[in-house]
Amino acid sequence: MLVSAAEMMRKAMEGQYAVGHFNLNNLEWTKGILETAQEMEAPVILGVSEGAAKYMGGFGTVAAMARAMAEELKITVPVALHLDHGTYEGCYKCIKAGFTSIMFDGSHYPIEENIEKSRELIHVAHALGLSIEAEVGAIGGEEDGVIAMGECADPAECKMIADLGVDFLAAGIGNIHGKYPANWPGLSFDTLAKIKATVGDMPLVLHGGTGIPEDQIKKAISMGVAKINVNTECQLAFAKGLREYIEAGKDLEGKGYDPRKLLAPAAKEMKAMVRTKMEMFGCVGKA
Ligand code: 13P
Repeated sequence: MLVSAAEMMRKAMEGQYAVGHFNLNNLEWTKGILETAQEMEAPVILGVSEGAAKYMGGFGTVAAMARAMAEELKITVPVALHLDHGTYEGCYKCIKAGFTSIMFDGSHYPIEENIEKSRELIHVAHALGLSIEAEVGAIGGEEDGVIAMGECADPAECKMIADLGVDFLAAGIGNIHGKYPANWPGLSFDTLAKIKATVGDMPLVLHGGTGIPEDQIKKAISMGVAKINVNTECQLAFAKGLREYIEAGKDLEGKGYDPRKLLAPAAKEMKAMVRTKMEMFGCVGKA
């Protein structure tokens, strides 16, 4: 059964661990992430960007696939189907499609407009039993063609959004999507401490989980981060598995070209990455 992410996030914050948000890219990913969460007895958030949803055939397709798969694979750990970096329109589409959680990314709007739109969507999401994430301070890097420079969120603005009753808050602390450049100065723990001091009990979300060193991940969790988003590292793992299979010429042996065989080593690598991240985030056995 797919659930709202509100309770798993509250428990994570209280228990000082983070729930992994892993982005879906296709059926293999959905299956691989669900199976790994079940094996690890970990709660999990299936993140879906608008671009990935379009690729997979639309929000309705993704929701139907995730819901049916969780049921048919007999997944018993809490699973939230969550819109990642949603637009205002995208949020309504996901609510209609049966998502259990949404993110409204109003970070590119003036703060007043971010507040107004977040307020409305929080009201609608809660009335329907969905959890909702909002964002302050754009996350840097590139995702689905949207390029933003890394920003540190203004703690006062974080408080304004937190006070609206959002379930969890993404606040920029120098994190970026994709691979980190060699000269990346690391997460701004100063900013994180200030944000935490103003928002209090609000679970915080760390986007751009790819490539953040383990010590920084652990420190961020100890300071209030309760959800960590990972996509690129899973993509790199998937590509590695596929490349090794093809470079070894296995697709040319017997029926090695069968997509079920071709994608199996890729999915295996991706699952191993999800496992590694869950161990790092401390959410294993917390379902
Ligand atoms: P990475 O691709 O850098 O892991 O970021 C994922 C993310 O934050 C999705 O919202």
